[in-house]
Amino acid sequence: MIQMVRHIVDTRQLKDRLFLEGLFERADEMRKIRWEKGVVDKHSNKIIAELFYEPSTRTRLTFGAAAIRLGAKIIGTENARDFSSAAKGEILEHSLRAIEESYDLLVLRHDKDGAGIRAARVAQMPIINGGDGTNQHPTQALLDLYAIRNSQKRIDGLKVALIGDVSRGRTIRSLAYLLAHLDGNCLYFVAPRELGLPDDMRSYLKHERKLDIYEIDDLDRILPEVDVAYATRLRLEYTDNHEKQRLLDAYRKFQITSERADRMKQGSVIMHPLPINTEKSDGFPEITPEVDRHSKAYYFEQSNGGLYIRMALLDILLTGHSDPLYNLILDVP
Ligand code: NCD
Repeated sequence: MIQMVRHIVDTRQLKDRLFLEGLFERADEMRKIRWEKGVVDKHSNKIIAELFYEPSTRTRLTFGAAAIRLGAKIIGTENARDFSSAAKGEILEHSLRAIEESYDLLVLRHDKDGAGIRAARVAQMPIINGGDGTNQHPTQALLDLYAIRNSQKRIDGLKVALIGDVSRGRTIRSLAYLLAHLDGNCLYFVAPRELGLPDDMRSYLKHERKLDIYEIDDLDRILPEVDVAYATRLRLEYTDNHEKQRLLDAYRKFQITSERADRMKQGSVIMHPLPINTEKSDGFPEITPEVDRHSKAYYFEQSNGGLYIRMALLDILLTGHSDPLYNLILDVP
């Protein structure tokens, strides 16, 4: 029997609660490995490729560290648009098929929606989608949920505000779908009208998953009630110059300040996938700098947990069918 290769490109593949619980336990084991042994040689016969067509700091560097800490080798191109054959016009499918015998796994970041699924359709090795356009960023969502589990001690029955660029935030879409597969979570989408919930997301969450969702633009009304305030930046790379100023003006209403953080309830946290915009990125910070020192700020712990989640994911995908968690990953939708 031919066994299908598993990929992680979309969080709708991760509906199985046992997968999520197992992944988080594995991530806890990876945390121990990192601090007790530093590096293990479990996957020293494996080579991973990182093909990144869009800028990245955290995703690329933490996958790199995760691979090395498991003993695997990792080779990548960080600016594939200019430095790979894409610069000569090659299509993604051809780039992947041309190298597939060289590698055991590929981490892909791409600026086009659906690139992760396209890659998974042609590849014979596991593909991890490290973010594709405005579509999905599943490993970010998994590390976000790991941070929620670690800070809230549960992943069900939570009130979560997803704030900012809801329409184009791939981390928001991926995390919302994960939360929608669990029990009794309530999601508040807090965004300027122009950047609100896309129809396909609303229909999946509300009609298919029967989830309680609220679409609002009054941050102050819900902030004191939520367990998690998940802020995101205005995605300026997807914003036309002529609408930039208007969207930036609309975005100011949603800035997380110390005063707002003070009004959040006990035990609640502020999360963010990072990076936060600055004047240098042509924007303004959606979380003001002094919040970094606020007791509710959890975004650096959140981001650092990404190493353990990515080690766990690589461990599962590189081990393959003999790892019980591997078989709980559903087909690409
Ligand atoms: C996010 C991304 O690339 O989608 N960053 C990340 O991977 N941590 C969020 C963003 O760029 O806004």
